Amino acid sequence: MNKTMEQLQASARSGISRRHLTPRARARQERVHSPDRGDKTTRRGTISCMGAPTIETIPGVVVWFTGLSGAGKTTLADALAGHLRHCGRPVFVLDGDVLRTGLCSDLGFGAKDREENIRRAGEVARLCAQTGIIVIAAFISPFRADRDRVRGILPRGRFLEVFVNSPLEVCEKRDVKGLYRRARSGSIPEFTGISSPYEPPLSPELELRTDRSTVSDCVCRIAELIDQSCESRKIIPVSTECGGWAQLEGDIASAGTFRAMA
Ligand code: ADX
Repeated sequence: MNKTMEQLQASARSGISRRHLTPRARARQERVHSPDRGDKTTRRGTISCMGAPTIETIPGVVVWFTGLSGAGKTTLADALAGHLRHCGRPVFVLDGDVLRTGLCSDLGFGAKDREENIRRAGEVARLCAQTGIIVIAAFISPFRADRDRVRGILPRGRFLEVFVNSPLEVCEKRDVKGLYRRARSGSIPEFTGISSPYEPPLSPELELRTDRSTVSDCVCRIAELIDQSCESRKIIPVSTECGGWAQLEGDIASAGTFRAMA
């Protein structure tokens, strides 16, 4: 049965209702609340666990953007983060360019280093998502196996792969950072799409053609995806807290199109 908005808001205020707990979490609550179970395990549970949110009951999720350089991953990550923050959601953006200046500054762009880059990014994303944060990860992540490994370390349904798809010709034409020109001239080796492969996802949760859509259209579709993920796990959809996604257009209207951003 669908809940009314009032019911959803009431659940949000009082925490997650028992009906929405996973069997494991419910079993733990039953142990904790049971008056005739006065053993140490129960008491320990009462102190440390009663009502505590768990990875099963909080919305922590990893929205993973993959796509060519210049496809719009960072633009989308920033626009989505802005909107989710507006909705009162804690968000953490992990961006390839940023990680490569610190945590991954020892890595290059050969296949082994890219694998390690994505492994580290995936581990950071997992740790953050465990706290209930919505993690937005923007990495070229050109290899399917590397992305699948990240999917594999997260609970089912917590890795939302978004293929930020723009044809190479378009990305190359945008060439926001001038990297394609340098890659064509041979001064950047192993450049994705030019001299290093990109393996598109076979069944991403979402594919966005950023050469044909506006930033706000794309953010809207990702927001819906996050909401579906919340609903399938019986937790409060993000949109409940900001009065629905209808407001989205206004929130990020200034983001414009990918072409204009480039
Ligand atoms: S990934 O392939 O390991 O996922 P990541 O997303 O971290 O890459 O970093 C990509 C960014 O590094 C690009 O946006 C671009 O600015 C920069 N870069 C520098 N050299 C390369 C290269 N050879 N291939 C792709 N991107 C490169």
